[in-house]
Amino acid sequence: MKKKVVVLTGAGISAESGIRTFRDSNGLWEEHRIEDVASPEGWHRNQELVLDFYNQRRRQVLECKPNRAHIALAELEQKYDVSIITQNVDNLHEAGGSTQVVHLHGELLKARSTKDENLIYDWPRDILTGDTCEKGSQLRPHIVWFGEAVPKMDEAIPLVMKADVFIVIGTSMVVYPAAGLINYAQYEIPKWLIDPNDMPLPRIPNLKFINQRATVGVDYLVKQLLEQA
Ligand code: APR
Repeated sequence: MKKKVVVLTGAGISAESGIRTFRDSNGLWEEHRIEDVASPEGWHRNQELVLDFYNQRRRQVLECKPNRAHIALAELEQKYDVSIITQNVDNLHEAGGSTQVVHLHGELLKARSTKDENLIYDWPRDILTGDTCEKGSQLRPHIVWFGEAVPKMDEAIPLVMKADVFIVIGTSMVVYPAAGLINYAQYEIPKWLIDPNDMPLPRIPNLKFINQRATVGVDYLVKQLLEQA
């Protein structure tokens, strides 16, 4: 049976594809206020502003391609059972070839009803005021905003508990509940963290830090894991 690799990714893995991160210098949260564009309150205050923010993000993602890190994770499936848990709302893991991707914070290329959260549509274009679901209510971005529940944690936690190897790539690990996932990994399994910037490392056993950009660090680690398998 193939060993299970579980990977938690954040904005850093898509940085080299040209997508801005949130908290680095020049990050998105320097220019936009979270409470204006990424909260239920912001949506109720100014729907146009929120739609415009995500329409810009969506247009940008449609121009981007997966990078070496996304592609290497897909190659890892040759010899491992790989599950990706991503905080990213882009589709670059899927575009890179990964087949098991859990989007904790939603997906930019989908829209959902504001009346019935189960009505979700593929929506690779702008969402405009007046675009409605089949029940007639305004569509919103299919994004988990601050202050909202993260239902996909129910899928993510059991995956992490089953991991034989756990890898974290390009996340500042400050947004919960996602940042807490690492605590569900078994004590004895190898854990890797890949990030080009120094950061406070979580205090968990068997953790190694690869202090590199995703394209370099993930390529290196994937080669090593494929050789070991
Ligand atoms: N390769 C790998 N990591 C990188 C790279 C790179 N080329 N460039 C930057 N990074 C790292 C940064 O050092 C930082 O640790 O990526 C991380 C990005 O952190 P954040 O901008 O905070 O992004 P993320 O952790 O994904 O944010 C979590 O916050 O606002 C929300 O919902 C949004 O899902 C997002 C969540």
